Amino acid sequence: DTGDVSLNGFDHYMLKEIYEQPESIRNAMRGRLDDQDATAVFGGLNLTPQQLRSVERIVLTGCGTSWHSALVGEYLIEELARIPVSVEYASELRYRNPPMENNTLVFGITQSGETADTLAALRETKRKGHRTLAICNVVASSIAQAADGGVYLHAGPEIGVASTKAYTSQCCVLAMLALYFGRTRHMSYEGGKRLIEELRRLPAAVQQALTTDEQVRDVAKKYCNATNFLYLGRQYNFPTALEGALKLKEISYIHAEGYPAAEMKHGPIALVDKDTPSLFIVPRGTTHDKVMANMEEVKARGGPIIAVASHDDPHIEAIADDVIRVPSVQEFLQPIVTVVPLQLLSYHIALLRGCDVDKPRNLAKSVTVE
Ligand code: G6P
Repeated sequence: DTGDVSLNGFDHYMLKEIYEQPESIRNAMRGRLDDQDATAVFGGLNLTPQQLRSVERIVLTGCGTSWHSALVGEYLIEELARIPVSVEYASELRYRNPPMENNTLVFGITQSGETADTLAALRETKRKGHRTLAICNVVASSIAQAADGGVYLHAGPEIGVASTKAYTSQCCVLAMLALYFGRTRHMSYEGGKRLIEELRRLPAAVQQALTTDEQVRDVAKKYCNATNFLYLGRQYNFPTALEGALKLKEISYIHAEGYPAAEMKHGPIALVDKDTPSLFIVPRGTTHDKVMANMEEVKARGGPIIAVASHDDPHIEAIADDVIRVPSVQEFLQPIVTVVPLQLLSYHIALLRGCDVDKPRNLAKSVTVE
């Protein structure tokens, strides 16, 4: 159901939603960055200062793309707030019954707010006495209502079945939550200030990443007949590899695997041949040189390489066959920028293969059955 949401001149909702990201990210942050105290503010979390201070663990749960944003959130919250985080598939959490510390906060992450497994996981953890919160796009949805509180994404309606703008908004909200929790603990005032500055740079960086569109289309033409793809990234961009591979599977029906780049040598490298492209997410940062070494391993085995790299990285062309350049932001925020060309790549490949981009076969926008 597209309701009365207009395509606004775009050929597909998915493309429109990809292009809306600078604005949807701005909307996720609107009114939530507090310069005075160098923190984030959330109207609907409903946590007392005492509850906030006593959090011992955060559980992030969701399905599909929302589960990938949970993985990004795990890095952000553990790094910036030093609170232990567990990421759980909602469909597993509802049956797995893991032991949880008393002061555990459970966040259900969901675009639609209607995913049956996420709703059931929240209900089950709430029954056991944990505080449950929703990170959700659709206002007054079932999960928003079932939770004790939460944060809305304000991304506007997402019609394309493959989630795009909701994902970057989820990551952005998780970064603001990391700031919020961090500032009640170890993060300094200056540290908070710097993070706010970095967050404010995101819409422009995403806008810049969108200018890769034409180049990404050329890359799509080159590889649209592949039957297998590898997506490889490390640390903050390991979830980006999973998300890029999921996007390709969902709408182009090409088999793709997302893997931590270094783990590749324990299996996926056996798939590498001249017909299996490997897409590396390799922006500047802590693991850059290690990922470059992984690229060398693929190149040595004759595999074509596409790299998503920083705008000013001088060494990439020597190894990669195609280089897509994105602006640099703080490295733990980089996934919000690097995912953009991957969304575009799946879009263009799906189009070239004649697939129904907005309504891929066998998939539903929200899965309301178990
Ligand atoms: C479906 C959609 C995915 C989405 C997932 C979770 O599988 O096709 O794009 O990521 O559900 O949906 P949610 O609304 O809970 O984020």
